Amino acid sequence: MKLAKRLDRIKPSATLTINAKAKALKRQGTHIINFGVGEPDFDTPIHIQEAAIKAMRDGQTRYTAVSGIDELKDGVCELMRKDYGLSFSRENVLISCGGKHALYNLFQALLDPGDEAILPSPYWVSYPDLVELAEGVTVAVPCPEESGFKLLPEQLENAITPRTRLLIMNSPSNPTGAVYSRSDLEALAEVLIPHEEILIVSDDIYYRILFDGAPWVNFAMIDRRLRERTFIVNGVSKSSCMTGWRIGYLVGNEEVIKGATKIQGQSTSNPTSIAQWASVAALKGDQECVAQMTRVFERRRDYVMDRLGGIPGVKCPRPSGAFYVFPNFSAYYGKAADGRIINSSLELADYFMERAHVAVVPGIAFGEDRCLRFSYALSMEELKDGFDRVADALKAMK
Ligand SMILES: Cc1ncc(COP(=O)(O)O)c(C=O)c1O
Repeated sequence: MKLAKRLDRIKPSATLTINAKAKALKRQGTHIINFGVGEPDFDTPIHIQEAAIKAMRDGQTRYTAVSGIDELKDGVCELMRKDYGLSFSRENVLISCGGKHALYNLFQALLDPGDEAILPSPYWVSYPDLVELAEGVTVAVPCPEESGFKLLPEQLENAITPRTRLLIMNSPSNPTGAVYSRSDLEALAEVLIPHEEILIVSDDIYYRILFDGAPWVNFAMIDRRLRERTFIVNGVSKSSCMTGWRIGYLVGNEEVIKGATKIQGQSTSNPTSIAQWASVAALKGDQECVAQMTRVFERRRDYVMDRLGGIPGVKCPRPSGAFYVFPNFSAYYGKAADGRIINSSLELADYFMERAHVAVVPGIAFGEDRCLRFSYALSMEELKDGFDRVADALKAMK
């Protein structure tokens, strides 16, 4: 069968692939510790579940407006006021089927063939493919662990060309957990402000999962001129443990929101009505569950950093948010393991899976082959067992 060439240019999501591999081994009865998960290990809070049931009983089971229900848009505007200190109206909001869908619609609405998107690397796996699907060009800028995996102003300046259209920011970051402080952003803003043609995508999907009392901040919040050029992508997936419900949103310039809505109108139409009503409860209801989850993740972050600190040769900046660590294992490259030489993140991830029954995501999927991504959306028992296994597998390398 002849398939469209477009398919040759995009890759299946590496994180989904590793999860499928882990699940297949699990089905065969192997006890896998799956550090590959990209979602909180908690159930959707009960009050959100109840809101979905009520919506069904109330007959909220039909098409809604393509861009989402007013009640949820109002919830997003309220959240923008409360958590961001920014004032938006319904016309600035598009509700989509997850944060990924919001990004897809945005790139389709903004990018022409050959337009460049600057992407600090390591990056979330899907950005380059989403840019590619919009016929844009990703300009990845390596941000090594020495600079805390963060983009520096001179790197940004050097990456800008006449074709630059977008800068994609993700803080707290997947895969590194790095968080840009106000002063980090202010330094980058000095570079961005004169380049009025460059728009900013702020993927804030982990914004509630912040540690050490760090305040929430993004580009739109630090300078009025950047606020007009920033598109906020967020959603309920991570902060409200609703990954399966598929609700995300895009906030920004009304004209662009209209364009993105047009794309959504000819693909999915509205996101699921019931999930939208559940998301109203997620945004407007009790937020203590979010704070509680963040405290749990922070304790796990501390434990994971202790364990990584005990492994010789491994380097890892301390994450300040999300639920991932991205340690550098390159000190082990060139060593023999079970009769083969390990030379890449893919080979090391495979070795961990086969020898230790531990699933991790190879760093190459995020643009950094020296590292592996570990999610700590796992119980303390699993974390302990998993790091014991990793330490043993590394000890066996010669
Ligand atoms: C950085 C980042 N952005 C967006 C998403 C997509 O979120 P959603 O599940 O709402 O599509 C993810 C999910 O893993 C993510 O890590």
